[in-house]
Amino acid sequence: MPEMPAKRKGSVDKHVQDLVRALRAHECPEVTYFSGDFPVFWRKASGCFVWDVRGRRYVDMTAAFAVANLGHGHPALIAALRRQTRLMIHGMGDVHPPEIKSRFLAALAGAAPGALSQTILSQNGSDAVESAIKTAQIARPGRDALVAFSGSYHGLSYGALSVTGQRMFRAPFAGRISKKTLFVDYPYCYRCPLKLAYPGCGIACLDGAARKIRAAGGARRFSAVIVEPIQGRGGEIVPPPGWLARLARFCRRERILLIADEIYTGFARTGRMFACEHERVTPDILCLGKGMTGGFPMSACIGTPAVMRRWGRSAGEAIHTSTFLGNPLGCAMGLAALSIYIRRSLHSRAERMGSYLRAELARRLGGLRGVGDIRGQGLIAGIELVKDLRTKTPDPERCSRVVVEALRRRLMILGGGIHQNVISLSPPLVVGRREIDFCVGVLEDALTEIKIREG
Ligand SMILES: Cc1ncc(COP(=O)(O)O)c(C=O)c1O
Repeated sequence: MPEMPAKRKGSVDKHVQDLVRALRAHECPEVTYFSGDFPVFWRKASGCFVWDVRGRRYVDMTAAFAVANLGHGHPALIAALRRQTRLMIHGMGDVHPPEIKSRFLAALAGAAPGALSQTILSQNGSDAVESAIKTAQIARPGRDALVAFSGSYHGLSYGALSVTGQRMFRAPFAGRISKKTLFVDYPYCYRCPLKLAYPGCGIACLDGAARKIRAAGGARRFSAVIVEPIQGRGGEIVPPPGWLARLARFCRRERILLIADEIYTGFARTGRMFACEHERVTPDILCLGKGMTGGFPMSACIGTPAVMRRWGRSAGEAIHTSTFLGNPLGCAMGLAALSIYIRRSLHSRAERMGSYLRAELARRLGGLRGVGDIRGQGLIAGIELVKDLRTKTPDPERCSRVVVEALRRRLMILGGGIHQNVISLSPPLVVGRREIDFCVGVLEDALTEIKIREG
């Protein structure tokens, strides 16, 4: 990267200071984090790369929160957006629907597993979870409790928060959050709550969860179990093979609905179009968002006709809708994105490149001090950092220092996990070996240079 001329550098520094000042003055102070190198102001993005306002290019191993699955600025998405923009930007989603909404919903139903075919569209992931929770309540009247998993992340609106199992997000709002959620153990094998090891454990944690659900009232009380097939924000936690299928069988036997939250895992990221398909599971309700449009804020809650018909026919005033429902730009981008996922078999690419990524992570980071676990599926990967391999004491401080060091070396990654000690990777699915090699090299250097601080 050529050095910036001094004069230009001075004016860029001032520009950045102005941006910081504006956010500090005009955004809720809790939203953007300012510290040292944070934040980087993005100016443009293309494929697997992002450029900041200083003209620096970064390799993006986040896909901007697993949204840009097709790569940033995919030409087909831009073309679809342009076409639709010329026709209509905003319509009347549930009253006089834009024509493209019908086409998108049909295409989505075609891509969704099994009988999942009737959708409530909304704007972001939390909205889709709200729709799913309401659908469960409508379909199973009188049962207003839900089952969710420890460490789960389903969004931050009040309904979604009520099934989100992370204290940090719940604590300030505890008084208003519904208490009608039973949290059971997620199969976090690296930190097994039963101190057992797979496969010898026989997935005993699920038997424990089942007992807890039955003891708390089973189908008399619970309308649905909500689950992430892989926990993302909880720390990129991949359940052992068979776990999801067994959970689905339990739900069917007990007549409790299964809601799969695939907002993070959906749309080819894990090596299948939807992560449930690895285990041949079709949930009763599926929540989608993020990669569905590749960038337009739109999400979906898709149910089977058996579940969705319980809503009844519209009597003229929808009781669960929103102003921007079925926004035509979102539908156009969703249609274009879906066609690319399918035509280009991006799930196969995610599987192939994901195997390469995990193999390289294991080869180059596996033996480094403080690397407790390397895990993932498809193009989701997590590297869990600990202070001590035996005690598994989480090392969130080193994790955040690695994230900052990576930025300095032009690599965009995120930290996450319930202990904030997991380096999370979720690159665009078009990522190549060169970007992966660069990423693993940066992580290796950063982890070698940044020592574990005792205590
Ligand atoms: C699994 C899952 N569910 C729900 C959400 C919430 O989505 P949003 O941030 O769009 O509301 C997220 C966001 O990260 C997610 O990963």
